[in-house]
Amino acid sequence: MLTAKRILLVIGGGIAAYKSLELIRRLQDRGAKVRAILTRAGAEFVTPLSVGSLTGDKVFQELFSLTDENEMGHIELSRDADLLVVAPATADLMAKMAHGHANDLASTALLATDKRILAAPAMNVRMWLHPATQRNVGILKGDGVTFVGPNAGGMACGEFGPGRMAEVPEIIAAIEAMMVDPAVSRPLAGHRVLVTSGPTREAIDPVRYISNHSSGKQGHAIAKAAAEAGADVTLVTGPVGVADPVGVTVVKVESARDMLAAVDAALPASIAIFAAAVADWRVADIAGGKLKKGPDGPPALSFVENPDILATVARHGTKRPRLVVGFAAETENVVDNARAKLARKGCDLIVANDVATGTGTFGGDANTVHLVSSEGVETWARQSKDEVARALVAHLARRLAGA
Ligand code: C5P
Repeated sequence: MLTAKRILLVIGGGIAAYKSLELIRRLQDRGAKVRAILTRAGAEFVTPLSVGSLTGDKVFQELFSLTDENEMGHIELSRDADLLVVAPATADLMAKMAHGHANDLASTALLATDKRILAAPAMNVRMWLHPATQRNVGILKGDGVTFVGPNAGGMACGEFGPGRMAEVPEIIAAIEAMMVDPAVSRPLAGHRVLVTSGPTREAIDPVRYISNHSSGKQGHAIAKAAAEAGADVTLVTGPVGVADPVGVTVVKVESARDMLAAVDAALPASIAIFAAAVADWRVADIAGGKLKKGPDGPPALSFVENPDILATVARHGTKRPRLVVGFAAETENVVDNARAKLARKGCDLIVANDVATGTGTFGGDANTVHLVSSEGVETWARQSKDEVARALVAHLARRLAGA
């Protein structure tokens, strides 16, 4: 499963470093090529000689080493891998990663990489539970770092609780799961993908508008995941507070009609994913000047229906993408409503999620989704919006390949 995969293992300074020696062996058993960076603290626990004997390669240790830089610079070292694994990931190493420090070879390589990172934390239970560490873990998860462990149990320091590094088979399983991940295998290379995200704003007058609570988190995560899977991605987004995903062409719009025009301009595409919460209606007569409070009471607003962007694209004829995906934000009868929507909109797949009060889906970081298509319904366990995005992209890549 890991044949010819290149793994850069960063060994931090913790007693669990001895397990990393075993990890190197088991990765090699599966056909992986392992290179290792040993931090200064790591070298207090395992020797460069042990690590180098196992990897059969130079052990990379110093940032400012002329030989290291001549043979392979830190940038190349981090890019010339399919995956970076930090084991043990100490509290200090995670703090450096979370805050972008680059004052030794390990932190510099981790900052310079464009590949995914798996971290296997190991530390004293109090250090793991400290708010500072938990804050850093939150930041790293937000940056897309995947975690395995730590496990609860007895520790070398005599205390008990979470902080033990995951066992070697668990780390291997996490690495294998990441290798089938689209971000690693890039199954959408050569494909164009269009994603809509965020709310639309429908003007009432020059200073007021009607909108909704869509945060854009899910749509933006999908655009990012599709780009990581190798696609050429255009993201058409309404006004959101989340950052533009890296490596994606971002087109910013306000109204539904602007969004439709931007979507049309971005076609053709192999896949179109409509995650935007488009306003169903717009104000019929947008006032040219600011509406004033007056003796006649509030203005009467009348509405007209907005174009349905998804339905328009799904019925585009020759310009129709091979896969058209809609979202359904429902508060009740989630799956039944999604089935009806699939037929009504003419799309290939509906990703239905429950946004009822209390689910925390709107604006939150996690999502429970049901994939509804002519083939049936697939329900995915609650996971982060990033994980939903990656799984959805992997699913669509398989469909596109006809698997
Ligand atoms: O009909 P409803 O708004 O529930 O459908 C949701 C799906 O349709 C989403 O994928 C959304 O992006 C898309 N949609 C659209 N244009 C609209 C309304 C919804 O693209 N005007």
